[in-house]
Amino acid sequence: MPEIDVPLERVGFGSTSRSDFWWVAPLVVFLGLGAFVVYATWAGLQGDYYRFGPYLSPFYSPELFGSAHAWFGPKPGWWPAWLIWSPAILILWAPGGFRVTCYYYRGAYYKAFWADPPSCTVGEPRKYYRGEHSFPLIWQNIHRYFLYLGIFFIGDLAYDAWNGFWFNGHFGVGVGSLVLLVNVILLSGYTFGCHSLRHLVGGVLDRLSRSPARKKVYDCVSCLNARHMTWAWCSLFWVAFSDVYIRLCAMGVWHDWRIF
Ligand code: FES
Repeated sequence: MPEIDVPLERVGFGSTSRSDFWWVAPLVVFLGLGAFVVYATWAGLQGDYYRFGPYLSPFYSPELFGSAHAWFGPKPGWWPAWLIWSPAILILWAPGGFRVTCYYYRGAYYKAFWADPPSCTVGEPRKYYRGEHSFPLIWQNIHRYFLYLGIFFIGDLAYDAWNGFWFNGHFGVGVGSLVLLVNVILLSGYTFGCHSLRHLVGGVLDRLSRSPARKKVYDCVSCLNARHMTWAWCSLFWVAFSDVYIRLCAMGVWHDWRIF
């Protein structure tokens, strides 16, 4: 079994004994997450081209206020005139908060965005480790509550995916129908593999074997959890692509091909 000596003394920023390409992973995370945040912010504030036929962009779902299809009607009169308006502003904080506080993403963006540390056994640019026991990172513990919202969003997006198969009251399949279906599958794989959910369904028990039903659910969540990083990236990419697809169809740039 290969061994590596890890010196324990404090080293300067970026110093390391590692000879592998340790910087590739944080760089990819920085570029990938950075690109997603820039695009999602622009798309969420844009406020237009988020519906096409039976399709609704996941960035705008559920649409509480906005178009004629919104749950509670058009843009509310109490919305301040000086504040930019977009239906996505009302809801994007929930899936955004779920992602930001995710255990996987925390480990990834702590390294990629503020080098804490840049990677394992690589020197960091600060002397003290405050961890998540004090302000502000103690707020990350709110993740378990964002999980409940995340599960609600899965139900909502599943309903949107179902609606995406109905064209003027007739069942049909367009490329957009499949895009929204894949979107909810990937987001489900990500959400139902959550570490907090794993704790909730079985981790809290001392003797899991005494609860066979919960053991089965726990095993399912654990199975998804083993690939949590993969689900996280695939679902992140696809939710952005779903918005791009619907946006470009609504703008007339792309044509939604009807399979039948
Ligand atoms: S730990 Fe990643 S979604 Fe909960």
